[in-house]
Amino acid sequence: MNRPIQIADKTWWIGINDRTTGFFEALWPLSRGVSYNSYMIDDNKVAVIDGVKADFYYQYIAKIKGIIGTDRSVDYMIINHVEPDHSGAIETMLQAFPEITIVGNRKTLKYVSQFYGSLPQSLEVADGDVLELGNHSLTFSLIPMVHWPETMVTYDTVSKALYSCDAFGSFGALDGGLFDDQIDLEDYRGETYRYYSNIVGKYSTFVERALAKVDGLDLGMICPAHGPLYRKDPGYIVELYRSMARQDTDRAVLVVYGSMYGNTARLAEAAARGIHDEGVTDVTVMDSATADLSSLIQEAWRCRGLILVGCSYNGGVFPKIAHFMDMLEGKKMSRRFVGICGSYTWSKGAAMKPLRLFAEQAGWTKVEPEVEIVSRPTEQDLDMAVELGRNVADAVIGVDD
Ligand code: FEO
Repeated sequence: MNRPIQIADKTWWIGINDRTTGFFEALWPLSRGVSYNSYMIDDNKVAVIDGVKADFYYQYIAKIKGIIGTDRSVDYMIINHVEPDHSGAIETMLQAFPEITIVGNRKTLKYVSQFYGSLPQSLEVADGDVLELGNHSLTFSLIPMVHWPETMVTYDTVSKALYSCDAFGSFGALDGGLFDDQIDLEDYRGETYRYYSNIVGKYSTFVERALAKVDGLDLGMICPAHGPLYRKDPGYIVELYRSMARQDTDRAVLVVYGSMYGNTARLAEAAARGIHDEGVTDVTVMDSATADLSSLIQEAWRCRGLILVGCSYNGGVFPKIAHFMDMLEGKKMSRRFVGICGSYTWSKGAAMKPLRLFAEQAGWTKVEPEVEIVSRPTEQDLDMAVELGRNVADAVIGVDD
């Protein structure tokens, strides 16, 4: 999609599909790429809403000039969010259109100057302020911490389009279709979930506040900065985000293990069997050594139960399990159940101590029994892991869906 695509009266998608970058934020794999959606309203005044990463400036400027020609300029660049996946092209925009005014709230303009230096022209807006472009009229609404303190959304009262930036976004490049009625949305659901749980999930309280603001709008289109756009059923993505922000969980259990030689892994297999025996069939067992961390977090966000299984390593628990727990603690997840299993050969308690700390301090409900084994599991050890699996399953079943 190397040309602008008209999405409404005088309104264009001028985004970029990135299938080159390996890791979003240098952390999260982009196996299906990601889009940086940017929009342009070509009215009496010309406004660009959200930008793209600096790497793609050439295509980006070409798209803009493809709409307005070479003898007109862009009047406004509206920065809903300063993270450089959206603001990176600012310097190029300033070079291409020296008269351009950068629009943002007080924090936006502060952060923009931190990244790109002082701006020749800027317009500071506050919550509820309106910018008239001609026929189109834009209202700004601040939604702090979705995903940075300065984040805001822009609503066009004429096209009823909500330009929501990271909110309602998804991983996954756009493969030809832009809108929900042009693509198989189910195909993006996993990527939306992985995006939410890894990028925005920590700020779910703020997402809920933002959703309360959005609830009052007449939504003709939702135009996020990543992933599909919604016009057939904007309520689909609003409700999916509401559910993820509320931390609704499935009647499901994730078992994650760290095992160097396969002995500790047998506890994970036994626990999974116990969960299944008890009637919970949505069970996922993942090896922390080979699984991608973002997929572990995505699955942990979805599942109501978690069993962590780790061998001891350098006086602690297997490092990939330690890292996983560390990431989960930062997510502020709640209303979930956790069970723990550890092993040691010569350092009794080394794995169990951090596992126990997580289970007791993460704000989840710990399920007994703890299972700690020596070197390789005995039949009794495996029976205990099965019992733990059964108990986690019972806890998960005991919550009303
Ligand atoms: Fe898509 Fe928080 O940047």
